[in-house]
Amino acid sequence: MVSDRTLRVVIKPVVFSICLVPLALLVWRGLNDGLGANPIEASNRFLGDWALRFILIALAVTPIRIMTRWNPIMRFRRMMGLFAFAYVVLHLTSYVALDQFFDWPAIWKDIIKRWYITVGMTAFVLLIPLAVTSTKGWIKRIGGKTWQNLHKLVYPAAILGVFHFYMMIKADFTEPIIYGVILAILFGIRIFESIRKRKPRTA
Ligand code: HEM
Repeated sequence: MVSDRTLRVVIKPVVFSICLVPLALLVWRGLNDGLGANPIEASNRFLGDWALRFILIALAVTPIRIMTRWNPIMRFRRMMGLFAFAYVVLHLTSYVALDQFFDWPAIWKDIIKRWYITVGMTAFVLLIPLAVTSTKGWIKRIGGKTWQNLHKLVYPAAILGVFHFYMMIKADFTEPIIYGVILAILFGIRIFESIRKRKPRTA
């Protein structure tokens, strides 16, 4: 059994540091010519990959709790969600700053003309209220039930994130399909659990 103190003082900082590894890897590759012929595209894609992975990791916390009955894992859900949002922001920033050089009219044109950008942007917009209301203060302010309902926005955001990836690909769809299957399994576990909970127990 892990004590509350070990969780707070040891495990949480370790997990936090691990979540920074992809970013550190990207910086290291950037500084060592490790991003190939098109470093802007490579870093944008790398950040997009990790944004989606962290959304899936955040969504996996509750199903893991359901399956393992290890409740302390819930203490990592907010951290995973905020890392997901941070990687999405970095992904968006790399597109706005490095890819488009802050050319706002061109960015706007992209958002309305290229469907995969429209979908990615919608996913990002859905995640904003979740990041803003992630603190305990906000849970108190809007009430637990409203907060829970609001945070269901992560489901459409995750679906759109996978769809965004799928839409931008021209040939090999394996990776977005794998993410889609993982998402479906995570949803399936939640649905199964809520049906199980609702069933009246017999004697
Ligand atoms: C929840 C939000 C988002 C997620 C999860 C996400 C995820 C991804 C993923 C996984 C990729 C493919 C990476 C690869 O090829 O390995 C990608 C590519 C891309 N995303 Fe996003 N994205 C999101 C939002 C956005 C937004 C808001 C924009 C810009 C407005 C954007 C612009 C792009 C661009 C330009 C590419 C690369 C396309 C290319 O190189 O041809 N994404 N994204």
